[in-house]
Amino acid sequence: MYQMKLKRMVSGVLATALVLSGISIMPYTTSADVLLVDNTFEINYDGWTHRGDLTSVVATPEAARDSARGMLVSNRLSPDDGSYSEKGFYLDGGKAYDYSVWVRHDEAADENFNLRLRYYSEEKDEYTTVPLVEKSVASGEWTELATSYTAPSGTINLTLILTTDTTADFCFDDVKVVGKKAYDPYSVSAGGNVGLKDVYAKYFRFGTCMPKNAVNDSVRTGIVLREFNSVTCENEMKPDNTVNRGACSNNNVAVTLSDAASILDFCIRNNIAVRGHTFVWYSQTPDVIFKQGFNSNGAYVSASDMDQRLESYIKNMFDAIKTQYSQLNLYAYDVCNELFLNDGGGMRPADNSNWVRVYGNDSFVLKAFEYARKYAPANCKLYINDYNEYMDAKTNDIYNMAMKVKEQGNIDGIGMQAHLDTSYPNGPAFRKALDKFLSTGLDVQVTELDITNTTAEDYQDIVSTVLDADKTSQDRVTALVVWGTTDSTSWRSGQNPLLFDGSGNKKGAYNSVFGLVPSSDYGDGNNPNDGSGPYVPPEPIKPDENGYYFHTTFEDGLEDWSARGDASVSSVSTQKFMDSKSASVSDRSDTWHGIARSLSTNPFEPGTAFSFSAMAMYETGEATETFKLTLQYTGSDGEDHYDEVATAEAKAGKWVQLKNTSFTIPEGAMSLVLYVETVDTMSEFYVDEIIGAVDGTVVKYEGGDEPDFMLGDIIEDSDNEVNAKDLVALAKYNVKLETFDARQMKAANVYSEDDVVDSKDLVKLAKFVAKLINTLD
Ligand code: XIL
Repeated sequence: MYQMKLKRMVSGVLATALVLSGISIMPYTTSADVLLVDNTFEINYDGWTHRGDLTSVVATPEAARDSARGMLVSNRLSPDDGSYSEKGFYLDGGKAYDYSVWVRHDEAADENFNLRLRYYSEEKDEYTTVPLVEKSVASGEWTELATSYTAPSGTINLTLILTTDTTADFCFDDVKVVGKKAYDPYSVSAGGNVGLKDVYAKYFRFGTCMPKNAVNDSVRTGIVLREFNSVTCENEMKPDNTVNRGACSNNNVAVTLSDAASILDFCIRNNIAVRGHTFVWYSQTPDVIFKQGFNSNGAYVSASDMDQRLESYIKNMFDAIKTQYSQLNLYAYDVCNELFLNDGGGMRPADNSNWVRVYGNDSFVLKAFEYARKYAPANCKLYINDYNEYMDAKTNDIYNMAMKVKEQGNIDGIGMQAHLDTSYPNGPAFRKALDKFLSTGLDVQVTELDITNTTAEDYQDIVSTVLDADKTSQDRVTALVVWGTTDSTSWRSGQNPLLFDGSGNKKGAYNSVFGLVPSSDYGDGNNPNDGSGPYVPPEPIKPDENGYYFHTTFEDGLEDWSARGDASVSSVSTQKFMDSKSASVSDRSDTWHGIARSLSTNPFEPGTAFSFSAMAMYETGEATETFKLTLQYTGSDGEDHYDEVATAEAKAGKWVQLKNTSFTIPEGAMSLVLYVETVDTMSEFYVDEIIGAVDGTVVKYEGGDEPDFMLGDIIEDSDNEVNAKDLVALAKYNVKLETFDARQMKAANVYSEDDVVDSKDLVKLAKFVAKLINTLD
């Protein structure tokens, strides 16, 4: 019979500087290492794109290995044509990874496949490409290309390249890279967990722009993941980057998403919405699209030819996004950018804009919006976007054009770029233009805010102006986007125009923007008010018939749980409390390294009590070890807190239940993370059956391994001591007012000479509680 000493559980040292992001994006394998890349092409193209202008890379059922889709590579003009994917967000130099990709071809002869890795050395400022696998593959057979490789430390932008020695078509599927995680979802937000996206969630999306090299930079991705729920590609979706010059013919403007692919993949995997930027612009647009034969020496085409080109470009872009990134939340698009002269002199002249040169008038604007409306996904709002928009004459030009397009029903909003300078314009001057734009009845987004030589007050002035305009316009300001993350990576670097300094630290400007909204108004940055109507708070999540809000059995993997600290976590069949699996937590180098999940304030609302339960067990280590279930949160004081939910002392090899049937989430708590740790050991351990439930829910197990129990501690509370509550329960049991589960029966059998629970046990327990006897043993 297993017993537990009557001993209060010792509180452990709350060691940790780690904080969370609340974002969990990494899939995990059932092995101890983490599956960093797992590209199956079932829904999106997962960052893969074509190598070679004319090479076609499409996800099709014919190219599937053992699922619905795989990638078919065709129309290769040289052996160097194929497919590639920039994996800098997932993979780092200096770390050992196992690479695997499955390939197939249907040529008669064997085909030699090449899997290569390209990386960039910042120190040497050079790209290097190394072979990973070269393998001869027989016709018609799926073959794995697999290897282990460590790129030199300090290298970034690790990029996979797949080609063969000929120009034959081939298929690939199931690209996997396994290794130690490059990115810890619980450490990206050191220094505070609540981001601007949460602070402003009830008002509008808070966004930034990203160039593709930001995806390789953990400082910038860390900021984006914590702060922003809207991303604009800084250059990667502009015509210069998306027109596939080599593939244009007749009047078809062919497109590529090669430059945007890694950003779009990043946004999908992290639930970040995207602003498309841009179709029609006088700048960063290849001349050849205006020239006959797509030839830079050709004459300018006619307006009717240009109509076809414009329509095909817009159609091809929306089609490519839908085909390759169907899960993307493309919520807005700048259809026309910077149409007007700065001084309010109307449209740019022909010598300044090829659009005006070809059309001779503003009809291309109406056409562009017409085509955009025709091909855009239903939830993608169409914008006219411009700078110096706060200057009266230009405000009028933008206003007039927006009204003209509005008559045709093809525009949804006006984008105010807001590239400002310190004290200019000030809030009231900016507000004047903002109100004029709102008077169109259209939405407004601030699309590229930066303020050269900014002070904290400048940002406070402008952002409070925007916030107030949103409040008074019934939520018609739907996004506020700053043009970049850190000062040193801004297009206006040197003039310190952003919210974070070059090292990624929050500036005074950031704090002033953060402080404009009281914490009682914070919302869920993953579910913001983005103008699809007035903010509707998410439906409260309802418990199931057992009263459970979540119930993780680890039978189907880790669900929302992931590693905390250096731990490796995986779902395993070697141990279980119930059914066939549990989660193992290994490689711990500190007591707080464990297994964690974030708790959403829906339903885990601060100020409300809930019941939590988790089964835990270790096999080898000390004679006894103490498990702890902890809630980490950011308090209203802005500090991180670590509150004990429950502790339980365990003996090696025995499952214990960590439980607290009524734990109140502290008032004002934000960014909640629930985790299992141990108090003063670093042994590998297992968890199973983790449950969050309505207040008072008692989690009982009839099946499962025998849980440990403390003799006499019958009642399912977290006091871990024998007292009057247990005595009352046993008295009720004896008069059939109460039933006991298996664990309770064992705990109640204090008179151990027999194997039944009856009045003899009641008498002995009464004596113990009355201190007439000292032990129940
Ligand atoms: C800028 C980018 O930030 C730079 O990297 C690039 O060299 C030039 O374009 N208005 C716009 C943006 O609409 O696309 C511009 O972005 C900034 C001004």
